[in-house]
Amino acid sequence: MLPTIDWKDEAVVMIDQRKLPASEIYVSCKTAQEVAKAIKTMVIRGAPAIGVAAAMGIALGMNRSRATGTKQFATEFQKLCDLMAATRPTAVNLFWAIERMKRVFADAAQNGCSVTELKQRLTNEAHRIHDEDVASCRSMGAFGAQLVPEQARILTHCNAGALATAGYGTALGVIRAAAEQGKKVAVLADETRPFLQGARLTAWELVKDGIDTTVITDNMAASMMRLGHVDLVVVGADRIAANGDVANKIGTYGVAVLAREHEIPFYVAAPLSTVDLNTSDGSRIPIEERNEREVTHVGPNRLTPEGAHIRNPAFDVTPARYVTAIVTERGIARPPFHESLAAFVEAAQLAAGVAR
Ligand code: MRU
Repeated sequence: MLPTIDWKDEAVVMIDQRKLPASEIYVSCKTAQEVAKAIKTMVIRGAPAIGVAAAMGIALGMNRSRATGTKQFATEFQKLCDLMAATRPTAVNLFWAIERMKRVFADAAQNGCSVTELKQRLTNEAHRIHDEDVASCRSMGAFGAQLVPEQARILTHCNAGALATAGYGTALGVIRAAAEQGKKVAVLADETRPFLQGARLTAWELVKDGIDTTVITDNMAASMMRLGHVDLVVVGADRIAANGDVANKIGTYGVAVLAREHEIPFYVAAPLSTVDLNTSDGSRIPIEERNEREVTHVGPNRLTPEGAHIRNPAFDVTPARYVTAIVTERGIARPPFHESLAAFVEAAQLAAGVAR
């Protein structure tokens, strides 16, 4: 499995996704501030991976705390939670992971734990979030593979792979699982302007796994579908509202509309940590607007003339009516999503012993 993020000794170590595929370089973050910067600058990206990084960053930072009393420790903890929460706004996994850390902290503090014990509990929780994410991806893969025919040409957008998670991937987990079952899969990877997650990261992962991969520019997807070269679409998600509207990488909405026009199933694969029942529909999902340089330049080369206005929304929202099914670690959710998603979330909370 590809190493996306790991906590080794005194540092959280991540493969630098800005440098792939040209160089496989690891970044070592020794403080919570360095982890926050890594999330903001896309050293690590992808909704579940961001959540894992934030949890590890908080635990790392708190392990370095010199506080001797729990009051001071609690103040520092809150500051680190706020620091992580301010990194990227759209992926709800980030806030979900911070909430988990807060819950563990509150329980431990209520039980009178010492600073040393609090540090240990936060560390354990961060590792648990990491390990559970890998397990969720494996489970999504097993469920999602049922949707893949024996021979399938699958279009995906952005990178929802091992790099975007703690390992194995969501959308790419489905593809991997189908390939592992012996199905003949071929992937069309949208390049995914402007950050090129598809061309750089999805292609890198799949080629390493020996999966048949063809990169297309985003504006080729329509034609590929019309020519009959796509059997199904599977993408990841950054946040899924209670009604099933899906926020994912900019361009996903266009792919979904095209899939509908060509009668191609459009699947979303995402863990339940991506489902936000507190957000009623997609119009309420905050969409990150990133630096215009991602659009104006490719590497050091400027593409656009000075003076042109630039927009760079990093995500869009696909209305639930375009989504055929949502693959989760608990099974495949079908419309009406407000019912199927709520049932899965409730079952997961009961299993985890968490009362809302
Ligand atoms: O801006 P990014 O690269 O963090 O956006 C990532 C995506 O949009 C992914 O499709 C999504 O997070 C799902 S990852 C399993």
